[in-house]
Amino acid sequence: MNDLGHSGLMIPTRDRLILTLGVIAGGAILLALVHGLASGAVARSSIHNLWLSVHLIAVLPALPLGAYVLVRRKGDALHRALGKLWAVLMLVAALSSFGLRGLTGSLSPIHLLSLLVLVMIPRGVLLARAHRIEAHRRVMSLTYLGLAVAGLFTLLPGRLLGTWLFS
Ligand code: HEM
Repeated sequence: MNDLGHSGLMIPTRDRLILTLGVIAGGAILLALVHGLASGAVARSSIHNLWLSVHLIAVLPALPLGAYVLVRRKGDALHRALGKLWAVLMLVAALSSFGLRGLTGSLSPIHLLSLLVLVMIPRGVLLARAHRIEAHRRVMSLTYLGLAVAGLFTLLPGRLLGTWLFS
């Protein structure tokens, strides 16, 4: 394998597409926050819910942090440190989501994504420890895709960030 392959500086097309979605989701969420703050929609909404605060504190930094880990050099000490931080944020995002039941009043289909993340993150970490790097990369990229898609879906009308964006 060549040096680029070892250091992971080459970004596969699949990861480029996933990153593009992450950037679009991040930009749109930022726009929703700014618009919601300006229109007063943020102040009017129930963000004082503890689980929602924990959820947002985990997912909002996870979006840029995960993108950075995906694009930067792989395998060094910083990759491992930032990767662990991202893994913890994703676990907190998934666990806190079980305290959120606003859409249906009960568990919703989105909670299946939470279960998937709770399986994928430990699997991704174990694969890295076993030096199964390609499988580790695939699992983590797909989990990041789940984060980006979940973020985009929060912008639908009727959901909290959608209300901020479109109010
Ligand atoms: C940038 C990414 C994300 C953002 C901004 C976000 C934001 C939110 C917000 C604002 C809510 C509550 C209000 C609403 O329904 O709109 C929510 C609920 C929820 N989120 Fe997230 N989230 C993100 C990623 C994730 C991820 C990665 C998961 C799974 C691991 C997840 C799972 C859930 C679940 C299960 C709910 C509860 C839905 C219900 O009420 O039934 N979210 N999210």
